[in-house]
Amino acid sequence: MMLLLLLVFQAKTNAQVDPAHCRYPLGMEDGRIKDHDITASSQWYETTGPQFGRLNREEGDGAWCPAGLLEPAVKQYLQIDLGQLTFLTVVGTQGRYAQNLGNEFARMYRLNYSHDGLLWRSWKNRLGNQTVKANDNAYTSRINDLHPPIITRYLRVIPVSQVSPTVCMRVELYGCPWSDGLISYSSPEGQQMLPPWFPFASLNDSTYDGVNEGRKMSGGLGQLTDGVIGQDDFLVTRQYLMWQGYDYVGWKNGSLSSDYVEMEFVFDKQRNFTSMKVHSNNMFHRGVKIFSSVSCSFKPHLLANWEAEPVEFHTVLDDRNPSARYVTVPLGSRTAKALRCRFHFADVWMMFSEISFLSADTVIPTQITPVVTSGFSNDESFMPTTHNTDKLHTITCPFCSPGIQTPLATSPTTIDLPDNRHTPVLIGCLVTIILLLVVIIFLILWCQYVCKVLEKAPRRILEEVTVRLSSSSDTVILQTPPVPPRVSQMDPPYERIFLLDPQYQDPAALRNKLPELSQSAEASACGGGYAEPDVTQCTPHQCFQNSVPHYAETDIVSLQGVTGSNMYAVPALTVDSLTRKDISVAEFPRQRLFFREKLGEGQFGEVHLCEAEGLPEFLGEGAPLPDRDGRPVLVAVKQLRADATNNARNDFLKEIKIMSRLNDPNIIQLLCVCVSSDPLCMVTEYMENGDLNMFLSQREMESNLTQANNIPSVSLSDLLHMSVQISSGMRYLASLNFVHRDLATRNCLLDRRLTIKIADFGMSRNLYSSDYYRIQGRAVLPIRWMAWESILLGKFTMASDVWAFGVTLWEIFTLCKEQPYSLLSDEQVIENTGEFFRNQGRQIFLFPPPLCPPSLFELMMRCWDRDIADRPTFEGLYQALRPHVVQ
Ligand code: ADE
Repeated sequence: MMLLLLLVFQAKTNAQVDPAHCRYPLGMEDGRIKDHDITASSQWYETTGPQFGRLNREEGDGAWCPAGLLEPAVKQYLQIDLGQLTFLTVVGTQGRYAQNLGNEFARMYRLNYSHDGLLWRSWKNRLGNQTVKANDNAYTSRINDLHPPIITRYLRVIPVSQVSPTVCMRVELYGCPWSDGLISYSSPEGQQMLPPWFPFASLNDSTYDGVNEGRKMSGGLGQLTDGVIGQDDFLVTRQYLMWQGYDYVGWKNGSLSSDYVEMEFVFDKQRNFTSMKVHSNNMFHRGVKIFSSVSCSFKPHLLANWEAEPVEFHTVLDDRNPSARYVTVPLGSRTAKALRCRFHFADVWMMFSEISFLSADTVIPTQITPVVTSGFSNDESFMPTTHNTDKLHTITCPFCSPGIQTPLATSPTTIDLPDNRHTPVLIGCLVTIILLLVVIIFLILWCQYVCKVLEKAPRRILEEVTVRLSSSSDTVILQTPPVPPRVSQMDPPYERIFLLDPQYQDPAALRNKLPELSQSAEASACGGGYAEPDVTQCTPHQCFQNSVPHYAETDIVSLQGVTGSNMYAVPALTVDSLTRKDISVAEFPRQRLFFREKLGEGQFGEVHLCEAEGLPEFLGEGAPLPDRDGRPVLVAVKQLRADATNNARNDFLKEIKIMSRLNDPNIIQLLCVCVSSDPLCMVTEYMENGDLNMFLSQREMESNLTQANNIPSVSLSDLLHMSVQISSGMRYLASLNFVHRDLATRNCLLDRRLTIKIADFGMSRNLYSSDYYRIQGRAVLPIRWMAWESILLGKFTMASDVWAFGVTLWEIFTLCKEQPYSLLSDEQVIENTGEFFRNQGRQIFLFPPPLCPPSLFELMMRCWDRDIADRPTFEGLYQALRPHVVQ
């Protein structure tokens, strides 16, 4: 009876591995990988057997050493069985030190890997090299990142030595479980995009490890599962030294025998599929779009036929936003071991950079999962008799920190039921096991529930913010509750979301706990236009928002729009209420502006490059204009669209008012305005070299190679000089108690001489739309640059500008080749913000850019200090950075 019980173990797994964070030691050093899972081709002595090949351990004679001399033709290996499919990102090696008795080490090694222990493949790096540099001495460990990562269960480390014929090795592997379970995909071969109609791009799957026959790839994994997602512009790659289009696999419509791309996915076992996520490019102006529809068929076993009734999914095509994106395809909880999906073209090209699956493991009723833990039984009759291996399997603990494995064992392999020789004792034991399992599942579910409540915290805050943002059609307020006109008695304060801590039930208690929160209310009340005076030092004069009388709710308008991400409450402005004397620059006759080209565009306006006739004479002596050398004066003219909303108009006028008072070599200079009639215009200096993001992303680090080949490049000292200039401009804004709120490389412009000037152009919003997070389709927030308190509490201060400065430095030293936290979705970035708030060591920081001096990364880390008061000031940052600039 009991045996007929349906024993279905379901563990929700969401792959989408992030290689930057999937770097957990897998257990060689700490013994989670058991001795019997480490084998070798040979061993010199008992005391140098494979079980001694553990990094940083000194048991036995201190390492694994293969027998005999290592001739080039002889392949010796140390083999590790990880017990489950694993996403392997890093390998660490060491030689034999043995308290100074040993001096054997491998200078190089190769890696072979296998899903099943039968079919072995050789690992190659992205350039096709198989050998990896290992050690130079017997004691220092060397850590090598695997690019691409390996998805495998078995790994062989094969020492290669041309110098010394005796080698010994100690090894650690790093990675995380490959919970996707995908073991291969097949698809038509990726193609090349060719001029003249398109730019050159090679869109093949260059790391695919299966076979490629007749233009069809099968039996392997490759770039679509390497965790690297492509950029918005498919020509730009995240990998150094790689060709245009490297991150994507792409196909041209009409070049295949069908009008769709057919892909098959094979999994390690039967799974219950919830959804598939396909990261697709959508650069429609180059003929690339996400797929228009996809239809997926399912197979319960590899030898079965495809089931009738595929799942169909139609996407909403988007030819407004060219950002690459994840398209989530619901798979209706269908059970299968293999899937076949047909992706239909929506344009000339279709390009994918990553595909992942959300599924739950399924064990079907006629089979039973053996549960073998050391504490249960050693009785042979409980051990799998046929195709199971003899080892304990681990599952990832859903409530532990990632990578920690529980010894709770469930084998993914199913076994046949015991035959009828088995006695009632066996049944009794099984009943006990089932009951234990029920208890364990209950405990797991309970823990998951608790974790969820904790993890929901930042999301709830965001939801509340969202509700507030959308609660009134004309009002966008991102501020803490104490601002009287907006907070009804019914509105719960943000602090109430911390359900588990009674202190947090009471906002006052939270303020006591977090002194900085007590200022957030005033901070929000102190909202400004382009910038907001810092609350902590805001005088009535400087903090002009403070002078605003208590306004009626109906007067409050949104300032989200033309010029920035700034969202705050201000009374509605009219040209009358903002009198001419508020604007300290002159009105320029608009008929003397001659349009040359469009520089940018946003929701409510455009920036044009214009020739300004007679501007030097108009501005008079000492005007901040570059040398003209007899050429016409070029200016950037930001113009409000005729149909802009009142809010956008207010925003525009407010930005003019503030900009007209700013005067610093590293802040964009407002020269004159045209506001006496519509359309409203502001005229600023023209910055020939565009924005810093674009500038850096088109350059490489200076090297012999860039110099020899005339590749546009920048030096470390250029980058430091840029950083100093931005800190100087921000120091100036801070001296006026202005808060920028959207500091990022996209808002820094470069002139002819590469002087940087900070601007805040909402016009860049279209170009950089993926940098902004849209809340319920209304407000947009640059969340990847925002301090935790800005996201969670709506608190913007100079200290939150310092946070954004840290992110801007990070962008500079990655040459803007990557978006901050590029591997996290917007929602994950917000969840991470909650971790910054909780500060329990679970927050994910931006990684140190490879080119960045460690002292500079430390400075960045200080900008991201959880404690607002502990972050440096802009003056401090400027003083710290300035000495590094070569004069
Ligand atoms: N894009 C927006 N503003 C600009 C400016 N002032 N110069 C050059 N490009 C711009």
